[in-house]
Amino acid sequence: MKQANVTLFHPLQDRICDVLLPSSRIHERIREVAAEISRDYEGREIVLLCVLKGAMMFTADLMRHLEPPVVLDFVAVSSYGSATSTSGVVRIQKDVEEQLAGRHVLVVEDIVDTGLTLHYLLANLRLRNPASLKVCCLLDKPSRRRVEVPVDYLGFAIEDRFVIGYGLDFDEHFRNLGYIGVMEEESA
Ligand code: IMP
Repeated sequence: MKQANVTLFHPLQDRICDVLLPSSRIHERIREVAAEISRDYEGREIVLLCVLKGAMMFTADLMRHLEPPVVLDFVAVSSYGSATSTSGVVRIQKDVEEQLAGRHVLVVEDIVDTGLTLHYLLANLRLRNPASLKVCCLLDKPSRRRVEVPVDYLGFAIEDRFVIGYGLDFDEHFRNLGYIGVMEEESA
């Protein structure tokens, strides 16, 4: 039988320098945010629009605690730039499948940094005439904002540090971590 090539430690593992948000704190906050959303959308169906890939873990955990009826859909956007920052040039890689006209759309995002990705996505979604369009974001780095975007429901505001885990990646790695960690800056 072929031997599995098991890597116990990721080569970049030693660059995770701090646990910013342990799993327990994330889940506690998600329950609070879900309760707020459930109150606001009482009696209405929510089209929950998960922004791939980063928001998939957050969306899965959030929707378990939502009381109103939920229809789940996905959108994938790519923004060009370096491994750790956005250029602002955004492209839709996988479009929404649901019809959004007349429906209550709640976009679920992992993190708002410059705001450019969300700004582009919201402008695009507005053209489809939803009855309402709101944003739920797990993390926000307000000091990095280049364009104003409305965040209606927020998990945590954080400082300007590059974070990974709980869906967030560095070069596609670390999405599977159950906590949110901080990556050390690359030394020159
Ligand atoms: P923005 O367009 O600058 O707001 O960037 C938003 C996107 O950049 C997020 O959806 C993430 O995919 C990515 N991003 C921004 N900051 C981080 C971070 O600290 N860790 C991982 N991804 C990030």
